Amino acid sequence: MSNARTESDGEAPMPATAAVVNDPFERFEVWLAEAIKAGVSEPNSMVLATAAAGGMPSARIVLLRSFDSSGFVFFADHNSRKGRELSENPHAALLFYWAELERQVRVEGVVSQGTIDTAAALIGPLNGSLGLRSEQAGPVHGFLTQKFTKRAKRWQAVRTSQPGTWGAYVLRPNAFEFWQGLEGSLPVRLFYTRTGNAWRPYGLGGPGNHMGI
Ligand SMILES: Cc1cc2nc3c(=O)[nH]c(=O)nc-3n(C[C@H](O)[C@H](O)[C@H](O)COP(=O)(O)O)c2cc1C
Repeated sequence: MSNARTESDGEAPMPATAAVVNDPFERFEVWLAEAIKAGVSEPNSMVLATAAAGGMPSARIVLLRSFDSSGFVFFADHNSRKGRELSENPHAALLFYWAELERQVRVEGVVSQGTIDTAAALIGPLNGSLGLRSEQAGPVHGFLTQKFTKRAKRWQAVRTSQPGTWGAYVLRPNAFEFWQGLEGSLPVRLFYTRTGNAWRPYGLGGPGNHMGI
């Protein structure tokens, strides 16, 4: 995504009329809520891209378990390829694609391993030990918990046969891109970059694009 900022169409200031959302997590929550409402299949599935120390990339689907301003939580086996790659190289990317809404969200950041006993957290509420402020309230978070719990029950046998190898990971973002396809017009791309705890939103595109998404 850092390359995208140098594209020739340049960086456009956010227009005064746009519905500027300064917090990318807020925008993400709205988009996820809209994906759920639109009946998108598996709206909390996301591509997780990792890379080994040598640079070889790999990607796969994982489920978003929860998120707040400190990051995106997913569960995985520490002994899996992704687990090994994240221990060698914590830089990773997430990708959400909601075809029905012509929307894509790209997230880049650094992954750390959660410290919780995941056997409990997989099907129970998450607690603050993940670095999250707390389990979030509201319909989107209720949906994530419910969806994930349903899926996790199918993994029950795996979890009990391999205790301790299945755990939580948290990706702390340093950049977001929100991509919106538009009928009869070029897509709109909205970027957010983080400095410390502050987020800076900006749009990419020429005159006439619609930043108010
Ligand atoms: C819809 C769907 C949801 C999945 N959710 C997860 C998940 O939450 N965690 C996980 O480790 N693997 C999940 N998988 C399986 C992964 O895509 C992948 O096959 C597996 O984790 C092994 O990946 P690796 O060898 O690259 O580590 C899911 C697959 C699909 C299709």
